[in-house]
This record gives sequence, C-alpha cells and structure tokens, in this order.
Amino acid sequence: LADGPLKGRRIVMTSGPTHEPIDPVRYIANRSSGAQGTALGRALAGLGAEVVFVTGPASVPPPAGVEVVRVETARQMRDAVLAALPADAAVFAAAVADWRVTSESASKIKKGVGESPTLQFAENPDILAEVSKLGQGRPGLVVGFAAETDDVIRHATEKRARKGCDWIVANDVSPATGIMGGAENAVTIITEDGADSWERMGKDAVAMALARRIAETLGPASGR
Ligand code: C5P
Repeated sequence: LADGPLKGRRIVMTSGPTHEPIDPVRYIANRSSGAQGTALGRALAGLGAEVVFVTGPASVPPPAGVEVVRVETARQMRDAVLAALPADAAVFAAAVADWRVTSESASKIKKGVGESPTLQFAENPDILAEVSKLGQGRPGLVVGFAAETDDVIRHATEKRARKGCDWIVANDVSPATGIMGGAENAVTIITEDGADSWERMGKDAVAMALARRIAETLGPASGR
C-alpha cells in the first residue's frame, strides 16, 4: 500500500455498470464505462487507502493497487459490498441497473415460435440507500453519485436526503456535455453544508480532488 493521508483506512467502492440477464446469452446494460470510478479507485489507493473495488463489467480495466471484486448483477454487487464491510468509507460510483428481469430464461429464448417475448421486471436493491441506513456497521462516510440532466443541484440535494448518504457527487450528464463516456467531468459536491460546484476538469483530476477531500474529512487513522 502507498503511503499517504489515507494510510490505515479501508474504503469499499463500486464502479461500472451492472448487467442484468435476460437469458444465458442476453442481458440489459447501460452506457457507464467505469472511467470515473476507476480513476477514483486509483486516486484513493494512491493516497494510501486499502480499497475494495467492486466492479461490474466496465469497459476500462480496474486500477492497480486495489482489491478487485468482479460482479455482474446488482444483487451480486450488493452482496459483495456487504461482505466487504466494515469500512471507514464507502463510495458508490457504479451505475447500478434499477431493474432486473424476473422472467429470466434458463435457456436461450428462440424466435419464430409464436409471439415476441415480454420481459418482466423487479426493482433491484438500492445499495447506496441500504448501506447509508445501516445502524451498526455504517461506514463513517458514505458517498453517492448522481447523474442528472436538469436542475442538477435540486435533484441531487433531494437524492442525498432520500438515500441518507453524507455526500452526493452530482454530474450533469446531458448529452450536450459529453460527460457520459467522455474524459472530463463537471461535478457538484452536495453535503450537509450545501453545494460546492467544481470547474470542469479531467476525470482523473476530479478523482484526485475527491480523494483528497475524503482524506481531509476522515482525518488520519488512529495508530497509523
Ligand atoms: O437513484 P440513482 O440511481 O440516481 O442513485 C445514484 C447513486 O445510487 C449512485 O451512487 C449509485 O451507485 C447508487 N445506487 C446503488 N444501487 C442502486 C441504484 C443506485 O447503489 N440500485
């Protein structure tokens, strides 16, 4: 582990999309590349944290220097996160599918045999909300992300209250911004003290600034 202000701190995080199977060869996914989460994992590890990096099938490789736990579905991600606790902080950068297919077929769905299939959905567990609401075992700092397209600060502030997390890192993912899948991000950090908007910068720079803020907030670990 690297030396730095997060030495002695254990941080559990999620990154990437989830895949929700329809049948053995098909799934529902989303456009998350895992780029911001991967940059954040790298930055946290670079500051000395022990990072458990729970990742869905991302299009970028996971960072070096973290413990990688690979999952596919939201439910696997939830189980992996809970199994990795306790931690000093938890950061949820994954784009978790809101729904899973309850009508998942054990064999490949065939065409040409009658009607087109109808998929049935059930809501996935909300990992951020569940961890935020843990009594004992709640990490001291719980950070969520919010991808918004309009009224970013209002929606993200509401999300922070609804989920019960400490911070929301909100980003404007309107197609015109080019942020989703792009190299840059423009974020607003929502805490109990209000909203702090950062200028647009590379995802690596956002990750480093966030990691530093996390380190400042946690302070030095006792007995390091
Ligand atoms: O509700 P929404 O998806 O907008 O919230 C985004 C935040 O919640 C992100 O931090 C995401 O990782 C987390 N989340 C989660 N589990 C879900 C849905 C979202 O942890 N099922």
